[in-house]
Amino acid sequence: MAAMNDNLSASRQIVMSGIRPTGFLHLGNFFGAVKNYVRMQDEYECYFMVADLHSLTTHPDTKELKANVQRVLAENIACGLDPDKVALYCQSHIFETAELYLYLNMLAYVGELEKTTTFKDKIRLQPQNINAGLLTYPVLQAADIILHRARFVPVGKDQEQHLEMARNYVNRFNHRYGDVFPEPVAFNFGEELVKVPSLDGAGKMSKSENQLATLYLSDDDDLIRKKVMKAKTDSGPAAPNSPKPDYIENIFLLMKLVCGEEVISKFSADYDNCTIRYGDLKKQLAEDMVSFIRPIREKAEAIRNNETYLREVMEKGAEKARKSARATMEIVRESMGLKYF
Ligand code: TYM
Repeated sequence: MAAMNDNLSASRQIVMSGIRPTGFLHLGNFFGAVKNYVRMQDEYECYFMVADLHSLTTHPDTKELKANVQRVLAENIACGLDPDKVALYCQSHIFETAELYLYLNMLAYVGELEKTTTFKDKIRLQPQNINAGLLTYPVLQAADIILHRARFVPVGKDQEQHLEMARNYVNRFNHRYGDVFPEPVAFNFGEELVKVPSLDGAGKMSKSENQLATLYLSDDDDLIRKKVMKAKTDSGPAAPNSPKPDYIENIFLLMKLVCGEEVISKFSADYDNCTIRYGDLKKQLAEDMVSFIRPIREKAEAIRNNETYLREVMEKGAEKARKSARATMEIVRESMGLKYF
């Protein structure tokens, strides 16, 4: 694996992404992000991290942080990520991130930060703690990405605006100090970015909100069945070939993630000719979800209990990430004129 930075970086495109340790990983995290990480790990130079610093903007209490970081690492590995192929690390272990974040803050305007959708959402949720870290959250995210001079960022649809902001900072930096960074783009194997909807037809699956309408990779079989059976449906279409209401469209979208083609065609045809039985559809979806989630959950549990292994993963990941970060920061300081001898 020493080859990752030494021999291959010149020939492989660089990929970076992160996940906050603010709760259990769910189907949205898997299909929006981790699935792509796993597909990318053989062909790209990959940096994937647990964004523990970002989590402090909303979760300042650190009592559970270590366990949460370990859980996210274990879940990533259980999904198929190989710590020997990628740099899998913890954000706070790479001090260079904070330095780059500081420089980028001088290129970020308060007005545009205040208009960011995630900032507006968060201040609605936590009016008692509108901290400056929350405001500059997208600046820290941009620092994470460009610290490795990454080009591709596998993320779900909700991160599109943050990526656009990262490109703005890159352009401002390059314009002022010289061509240092490539423009990072959100990535999903040539397809639209993914948004996995919640089971109640309102919004998306989420780590900390909407927990009964979110399927977590740690949910046991019965809980998965219970959540799916509660998904919002109705009495069925009144006329053949009717358009589907959003909440039914969402259920079909969830089926596309885990069910076979023939199952989807059968229930689509049943919907179109008004014979659909939502009870049967949900039973089938629940069983396919159970088959999908169970092996990941079992693997993650085993990995989570192996603290020594997780520590090794974190150390190895940090070492790889630091090497790339240090190389970038040398160039950054030089191009900014911060070297005086
Ligand atoms: P976070 O922790 O909210 O989510 C992690 C990843 O999961 C994706 N995701 C979804 N995709 C589809 N449908 C959903 N319902 C869904 N919910 C979450 C997210 O798009 C994300 O890809 N700001 C980031 C963390 C971060 C980061 C970075 C990402 C910090 N630094 C650098 C990329 C690059 C976040 O809060 O992700």
